[in-house]
Parts: sequence; structure tokens; C-alpha cells
Amino acid sequence: MKKLVCVLGSPRAGGNSETIAIRLVDKAKQLGATTECFRLHDMTLKGCSGCMGCKTQSDSCVVQDDMKSVLDAVAGADAVVLTSPIYFGQISGQLKCFVDRTFSYLVPDFFKTSNPSRLQPGKKLALILTQGDPNESAHNIAPEYEEIFKFMGFETYSLRGLGLGAPTDAAGRAELLKEAEALAGKLLS
Ligand SMILES: Cc1cc2nc3c(=O)[nH]c(=O)nc-3n(C[C@H](O)[C@H](O)[C@H](O)COP(=O)(O)O)c2cc1C
Repeated sequence: MKKLVCVLGSPRAGGNSETIAIRLVDKAKQLGATTECFRLHDMTLKGCSGCMGCKTQSDSCVVQDDMKSVLDAVAGADAVVLTSPIYFGQISGQLKCFVDRTFSYLVPDFFKTSNPSRLQPGKKLALILTQGDPNESAHNIAPEYEEIFKFMGFETYSLRGLGLGAPTDAAGRAELLKEAEALAGKLLS
């Protein structure tokens, strides 16, 4: 049985990115996967401390906070979903804390080796990013995050929800919810 882990990066419970992500998670359950979700805003966590403990003392992050359970779950998953609203052209601070802590997934000499990742190969990852701006050219930051996770060995996908201002907007966007269901199939194939 495949395992899908979803990391929710919006502080808004039930908001746009979460609505789309939960549709994906529900579809993944229907397809037979086990699923686990983490809402970062409800957890006590920090960003990367830059201590290099994951390169010099341990093969995992040495910071002891709630992020540990998220990092462990993602490392053990077959498929990962990361979600965030766009805040001032970037991902939320909560999700950025997670992204920075994934530095611990890299081996010490990651720039000098053909396999920089400590993770098992074959994992898939999808980014779900929502924004108020309806223009496709605004805040197209998914590619740069896909690059980061490709470097760690993930096969990556992304879904962007444009023109989603009010927290309930995504619930009325059937095409995005359908895209989320299709993404569940890709992540678990
Ligand atoms: C602090 C803050 C900053 C935002 N910055 C942007 C922005 O730069 N561009 C944009 O299109 N929308 C921006 N938004 C709108 C959100 O990205 C949008 O409402 C998103 O769909 C919220 O997703 P959520 O409901 O999952 O939190 C901002 C919202 C907040 C609260």
C-alpha cells in the first residue's frame, strides 16, 4: 500500500490550498493509499538553524521540534503534497520553514556527488499553490521549488489555483478540484 503525506502550508484551515489538497488526499484514499496530513501552522516549529548538525553529527535534522515528525513522515512516504498560498510573491513562511529543513535530506558533500539525496529513490511530489491574482504570469514560482525537490530525487508536479481570494473560492472551482483528483492518480501511479 502506498503512503501519501500532505504538508499544509496555509495558516487558513479550510482555505483554498487546503480545499484543493484535501480533494487530492480523498482521491488518494479512494485509490487505496494511506494518507497523513500535517498543518504546519498548528505545530510548534522553526526554520533551519544552519547548524550543519545534519552534515556533521547525524543523518537527519538535529533540531528537536514538531518538524521532526513531518520530516520523518515525508522521508517515509511514496508521494508528498506541499501546499501554500502565495504571500507577497512567495510561499508562506510556514512552508518555507519546512523547505529549509529538508536540507537535512541532502548528504554532506551534496554538490560533489551524483546522488545528493539521502531519500529512497522513486518518490513523487506535488506542489499546490494558490493566489489571489488571476494572471498566470504573476508569481509563477512553482518551477523553482520543483527544481529543489528534483535535486532531492523527487519526480515533481505542480497545480496552481489563480484568482482565489476568499477562502471559499476554491470550493467553487470544479476544474481545479478535478485537476487535484487527476494529480492523485499521477502521484500514486
Ligand atoms: C499576507 C498575504 C499576502 C498575500 N500576497 C499575495 C500575493 O503576493 N499575490 C497574490 O496573488 N495573492 C496574495 N495573497 C492572497 C492569497 O495568496 C490567496 O488568497 C490564496 O488563495 C490564499 O490561500 P489559502 O486560502 O489556502 O490560505 C496574499 C494574502 C495574504 C494574507
